[in-house]
This record gives sequence, structure tokens and C-alpha cells, in this order.
Amino acid sequence: MKKMLFAASEGLPFVKTGGLADVIGSLPQAMKGEGFEVSVVMPLYLKTAKTMHNTLTKVKTFKVDVGIIHTVATIYSKVIDGVTFYLIEHAPYFERDGYYGYGDDGERFAFFSHAVLRIIEEKIVEPDVLHAHDWHVGMLPLLAKTVYAKRIKTPLTLFTIHNLLFQGYFPYDILESCFGLSNDYYFDGRLRFKDGISTMKAGILYSDLVTTVSKTYAHEILTPEFGENMEYVLQLRQADLFGIVNGIDVDLWDPATDDHLAEKFSIKSVTRGKKANKLAIQKELGLREDPDVMLVAMVSRLTDQKGVSLLTQAMHDIMGWDIQVVVLGTGDSWAENELKAIEFRYPRRAVFYCGYNESLAHRIYAGADVLLMPSAFEPCGISQLIAMRYGTLPVVRETGGLKDTVQPYNQFTKEGTGFSFIPMNVNDFKHVLWLALETYTDRKDDFKTLRKQAMAKDVSWQKSAHEYAELIDFRLK
Ligand code: ADP
Ligand code: GLC
Repeated sequence: MKKMLFAASEGLPFVKTGGLADVIGSLPQAMKGEGFEVSVVMPLYLKTAKTMHNTLTKVKTFKVDVGIIHTVATIYSKVIDGVTFYLIEHAPYFERDGYYGYGDDGERFAFFSHAVLRIIEEKIVEPDVLHAHDWHVGMLPLLAKTVYAKRIKTPLTLFTIHNLLFQGYFPYDILESCFGLSNDYYFDGRLRFKDGISTMKAGILYSDLVTTVSKTYAHEILTPEFGENMEYVLQLRQADLFGIVNGIDVDLWDPATDDHLAEKFSIKSVTRGKKANKLAIQKELGLREDPDVMLVAMVSRLTDQKGVSLLTQAMHDIMGWDIQVVVLGTGDSWAENELKAIEFRYPRRAVFYCGYNESLAHRIYAGADVLLMPSAFEPCGISQLIAMRYGTLPVVRETGGLKDTVQPYNQFTKEGTGFSFIPMNVNDFKHVLWLALETYTDRKDDFKTLRKQAMAKDVSWQKSAHEYAELIDFRLK
């Protein structure tokens, strides 16, 4: 049986800050279904140490050389539904209140990358395929082929870009001091990016295969508009660059079995189920309890990527309509402040829950009528997939994975699973939201049809896992 090792900085059920954790918590399981023996390696963060430590099995402690730093890692494991998770413990690096954004992130993830390869060297896992995700582990393919070349059997390397905006940008001397490589990789330009180096660039250049999380984003990132100054590097690897759209864990996100909900529902009972869940979330959040008003939700990191400013700019106009708005999220302080002011100004009509709350997210997806994702760019997007599964129609901008997963409403054929717009401006955004409201109030049957079509859409990993397997099998031959 072919062995596959996933390396990533976060994943469910341990820690999650965004969609990457959803992917790491569900794609491995789907690859198992494709006949792979799968394991995952992640850092052991404070949250895991506090809440799950007693459920982990200690595997081994070994030395790790992080360039000029000589230290140790302790490996723990936990098997979940046949997938083995290895957690790398090194308290000073990972047992902190947050996950990213520290001054020593370069050193922390260099340590993590070395520890991943040491696990292979120690024969704890002997993967045929090493699947690295995002900048945190972008150096893995290069390290496997250089520093560790004689120490491990080099696996096929696969690097997945989840978000090109985050590039692992560090001063060049990290190459020697933390990765054990020559600084020449900076001086001769191979890893140079602006005035430093980029671990994202390393992943793109040195991995055998490069994928990203939707077909449209795979095209978009070859252009200056979406390439984040990495388009030239990506163009070099165009022949090995593939877009494979994300799925979700359809067992975790299933309105028919979801214990977080006020009332469980399926396609058959959707009208009743949505109404009960809407009333329950209105009550929970202090909104006016009204089953007929259209409830508009956003569950998101609050950053420029997500188009939050379109909502804040449109807010005063759309509050003239018979709608309610609920936003669950954290992020940039400008966005948090504006949303707090909006909540204050429109009591019982608009609610902003500032924070991260997994359970509340389930109830919002279940109770809302539409979910806003007016993203400036979106590699894939997980929230719109969850929303559709809960009969909540996504209102999206046609970019990246949003374009690939949400079929816009066609008034004539009644096709569609949501609503979409293209130009990134507030008038187009208001226009599409108005179309959603008009459909909700004046063409109720159409809205119900769209709802059922959204719920019936296949958002599982099955098809995409098969695409990964085909790509891997082809290269392993
Ligand atoms: P990204 O990874 O860019 O943040 P995605 O749409 O791919 O966007 O994934 C976001 C994931 O994080 C979804 O599962 C969504 O439900 C979840 N999420 C985002 N913000 C919050 C929050 N404040 N509380 C709970 N879950 C959240
Ligand atoms: C990133 C992207 C998001 C994607 C997620 C998982 O966070 O912003 O679009 O869904 O990764 O691939």
C-alpha cells in the first residue's frame, strides 16, 4: 500500500484558524478511501497540550539540527479513524497563546520542517508521497532533496498552495542559520524574493508537483492581478501546476445529524428546519425573532481578502431593507471596529460576534438564509461549501473557488445554488444582495428550489481525492 504523509501547520480536530485546518482534518481520510495509508504531521500547540494531552501516545524523542541550532523534538501520536496524526512537541516554539505572526516564525517552522524529515529518517513513517501545505512547510521538498538526500529515501513531493498572500518571507540568512543550506540560494536568486527569501517560492520551485485548491485560482495566480508577485515563479512550473477543488467533511457538517442545532433537518424537512434554526439563532443572539425576515450571515476572517468593506460600506443602505445581518469573525481592527459601530447603531437588526466560535458557526450556517462571501480573491473557500450543505445560499464574488463551486441563480431556467457578482464594488454587491432578497420575498418557490439544489450539491472530497490519487499514481509510475 502506498504511504502518504501530510505536513501542515494546523488541522482538525486539534487546532483551526481557517480552511487549511478543515482540509487537513478531512482530505487524509478521503485519501485513505483511495487506497493510501495516510499519516499527518503537525506541531503540538498549547491548545492541544491543554485539552488533549492525555489522549496522545508518546512515540519518541530525538535530536533535531535547525541549521546552527541543536535541539530536540518529542513526537506524540493519535490515530483517528485509521489516519495517524503525529504531533511534534517543542514547547518554546509552539506552546504560545497564538499560532502565527511571531518574530521567530521562520525559526519555528524551520524547526518543524526539520522535525518532519527527522521522523522519516527515524523510520517512524516512510512515505512514498510527502504532501506539504502552504509556506510553513514550503522548504520541505528542497530540504528532502538536499540536506536529507542521503539520509532518507526521497519521496515524491507535492506542494499545495492554499493562499498565495502568505509567502513565508524572511531575511536571507535564515537559509544558513535555520535550514542548514547555503545563503547562495538567496545570492544567485533561486530563493530570493524581494529583499529576502520566500518559503512559498521554495515550495513552488522544488516540489515535484504543485497544486492549488481550485481550477480558477490555478489560472488566476499566473497573472499579476492574483499572483502576489509570484506569477513568474508559477509560470515556470505551469506544466506541473494543477487546481483541485476542496471538499468538506460531510459527516462533521451534516444538518441531519448536527448536535449543535436547535433542530436537525434534511432536504425533505428543510423549510421547517431552517425556520426553527432561524428563530433559535435570533433568540440566542438577541435579534428580533421573526421567521419571515431574510437572515444574512458572514462567518469569516475579517480581512481585505474577504471583502468585509463591501458589507460595511453597504450596511447603512441595506439596513433600509427588511433583512437582518449576523457576522461571526475576528481579524483586522478596522473591520472589527466598524462592525461594532454597526451593531450599536442597528440593535435587534445587526449582530457582530467578535471571536472564534465553532459551535456558533454551525448554528449560524443552519439558521441563515444567505451567506456573504464577497471576496476580493478566494483560493477555494470552505464556508460557501458548508453553507450550501445547510441550505444557506451563498452570495459570492466570482473569483477562485467561489466561481467553481457556486452556480449563480438563473431566473429563467431556475438553475443555481447561490448568487454571484463580478466587479469588486459596493453597487454590484448591493445589487446581487437585492436580487437574493427579491427572490426570497417575491419568488419563494425559486428560493426553495435553489435551497434544495444547494443541499443536493456534492461537496464531499470523493471526486477531488480521486484527482489527487490519479496525479500521484501517474508520477509514481
Ligand atoms: P479561510 O481559510 O481563507 O479563512 P475558508 O472559507 O476556506 O476561509 O475557511 C474558513 C473556515 O473557518 C470555515 O470552516 C469557517 O466556518 C471557519 N471560520 C471562520 N471564521 C470563524 C469564526 N469566527 N468562528 C468559527 N469558525 C470560523
Ligand atoms: C486558504 C484560503 C481559502 C481556502 C483554504 C483551504 O485559507 O484562503 O480560500 O479554502 O485555504 O484550502
